[in-house]
Amino acid sequence: METQKIIISGNLGEEVEEAVGRLSPDRLFLLTDHTTRDLCLPRLRECSRLIANMEASHQISIGATDDNKTLESLVDVWTALGEGGATRHSMMINLGGGMVTDLGGFAASTFKRGIAYVNIPTTLLSMVDAAVGGKTGINFRGLKNEIGVFNAADTVILDTGFLRTLDRENLCSGYAEMVKHGLISDRQTLDELLSFDLGDVDYARLSDMVAASVAVKERIVAADPHEKGLRKALNLGHTAGHALESLAMEEGRTVLHGYAVAWGLVCELWLSVVHCGFPTPLMRQVAQFVRENYGHFAITCKEYDRLYDFMLHDKKNTAGSICFTLLGEVGDIRLDQHVSREDIFEMLDFFREGL
Ligand code: GLY
Repeated sequence: METQKIIISGNLGEEVEEAVGRLSPDRLFLLTDHTTRDLCLPRLRECSRLIANMEASHQISIGATDDNKTLESLVDVWTALGEGGATRHSMMINLGGGMVTDLGGFAASTFKRGIAYVNIPTTLLSMVDAAVGGKTGINFRGLKNEIGVFNAADTVILDTGFLRTLDRENLCSGYAEMVKHGLISDRQTLDELLSFDLGDVDYARLSDMVAASVAVKERIVAADPHEKGLRKALNLGHTAGHALESLAMEEGRTVLHGYAVAWGLVCELWLSVVHCGFPTPLMRQVAQFVRENYGHFAITCKEYDRLYDFMLHDKKNTAGSICFTLLGEVGDIRLDQHVSREDIFEMLDFFREGL
């Protein structure tokens, strides 16, 4: 996979024009969802003549939220590219959260065997995770990100100005991935993350922390772009987290992805204590931060089998055995940890009672 250029934006308009100019595409397309079309595109138009003067037929917009990350939306984007005269030398800009950058990246990666694309993430979650690292795709038959390819954006432009209008829940959601990056990095980074006040956001400080967080992901993806080894570190919190997220969706009490990741991190730090000697006081410190900022997700023992089932069907597993990424300490990453059903149920006991 090609490496992508990641820009911490100082001047969005100039950076967009530079990213497009570098590849000088024959036609430029812009993908938004209906929310980013209304709320974020005006800002991009204001600062970039190129975007302000784009033909209407080259501007594609799909429904917002994850339930639009479908084959139907993908077909709509391919159709718009085709009808707009896109060739292999065209280019697409994806302006939005993870749904837009994942689906847009997949549409671009597959249209005429692949056209270049630029991501401009507008949510914290997409800035520190989805838009970076070349994972693209759509949901299929009820399974998240079931169909997709690894193919990096040519450029990712991170403009933290978009975060000033992001609601608290979405800010917290993205922040969980930053805590994950802290846990797989070093104690100082983690301490800084756990001392940040999400109720009274210091945006200048957040901006620096976003840059540091993205650098963690960038380093890991550069070492292992296709998730053969080290990139699995980025799955910390996600085996339990995805199970909680799927259960929540099934029971009609859907939660934002990052909330499930935050709860999943607590679960998997408990496993890390038991299996890898992770320090208990630190696990409790993270659990307290999560409790204060993400609240509690109620589960009962009757749901354990279902949660176990979700974990068993996680696409990160190999041959029917549940595989976790755990930690021996902050930054001491233990990949491919197989954990028994009994220990998983005990982890769920801890989560049910302790959080
Ligand atoms: N979201 C985890 C990864 O990009 O590998």
